[in-house]
Amino acid sequence: MKISNNYNLEAQNTFGIKSICDRYIEILSETDIIEYFSELNSNRKYLILSGGSNMLLPDYFDGDVLHIKLKGIEKNKLSDTETLFKVSAGENWHSFVENTVNEKFIGLENMALIPGNVGTAPIQNIGAYGVEQEEYFVSLEGFNFESGKFEKYSKQECNFGYRDSIFKNKLKGNFVITSVTYLLSKKNKHNTSYTELHNYLNENKLEINSKNIFNAVVNIRQNKLPDPKILGNSGSFFKNPIISKSEFLALKEKYQALRGFEQADGNIKMSAGWLIDNAGLKGFKKGNAGIYEKHALILVNYGNATSSEVINVADFVIDKVDLIFGIKLVPEVNII
Ligand code: EPU
Repeated sequence: MKISNNYNLEAQNTFGIKSICDRYIEILSETDIIEYFSELNSNRKYLILSGGSNMLLPDYFDGDVLHIKLKGIEKNKLSDTETLFKVSAGENWHSFVENTVNEKFIGLENMALIPGNVGTAPIQNIGAYGVEQEEYFVSLEGFNFESGKFEKYSKQECNFGYRDSIFKNKLKGNFVITSVTYLLSKKNKHNTSYTELHNYLNENKLEINSKNIFNAVVNIRQNKLPDPKILGNSGSFFKNPIISKSEFLALKEKYQALRGFEQADGNIKMSAGWLIDNAGLKGFKKGNAGIYEKHALILVNYGNATSSEVINVADFVIDKVDLIFGIKLVPEVNII
């Protein structure tokens, strides 16, 4: 366990917010977690940080930030085609995906280039281009600060939903994920159902295989999502709202271009990006924060933005979209 006092977390969050914490604690092993827990005083505030890619940190955090830096991937070959990957929480998600693609496994390629670490993937059940991590998820392990024990969660116990899990609800803030296990096969079916991905592969006459899907997703993302190393951001700031079919049809009468995707339960998932864009807010800037000019769902730090500046922009977006469309957007990013 490595401790630094009055630490600036600017490089530890993809929004690039200057956030000072009282103590920054690097967790390099499971023993470090036990050591920290045994010394923890009940009044002490702590925050669990992994890739820092889905968080808006405060300008000052009056407590301990535990940065989970556990590394390593254990592979357990079940057959010629199937392998279990037990991945430590601090492994970079994109590098892990790239490794599985290089080894000709099928499944994770649609989720290339999602920022963050493996340990945070299950928390918000990351997903992109038609695939969510839950499809290949088997179980995870971690330390529960309430029970004071290491615990294992099966897929069913994680309660995965759209950008949701038990770790965003009942276990929020109290559970350190230490490793995640995925089952991959070389015989899985490729998913090219997402229109933009399907069109990209067709237009470029690319054969359907993991490598080509991986490269296509990397290209599509790089063309429309800002690179956090250049422009601070946390990916989609809001969830895509889900409304009833009758609400959707009523809105569609007014806005013919409105698109929605029917869910298994009959409700309609709308595009928050479309709503924000059509509220005229793409490229909107207030202070040092604003909305990315190429994609309305991404809030960006134009340089030196404070967390309150980002929150002001988010509140402005919520109010304007609500006023025009009567839909209340909900942040996907975890606001601390
Ligand atoms: N759109 C606009 N204007 C915009 C942006 C989007 O009109 O400025 C409309 C377009 O009609 C577009 C549609 O929105 O076709 C959907 O846009 P996109 O394909 O970029 O997907 P998204 O719904 O905005 C979701 C995820 C992304 C994921 C993509 C691709 C959420 C909250 N976001 O975005 O995930 O990469 O689909 O699967 O579900 C993330 O979670 O951080 C993230 C980037």
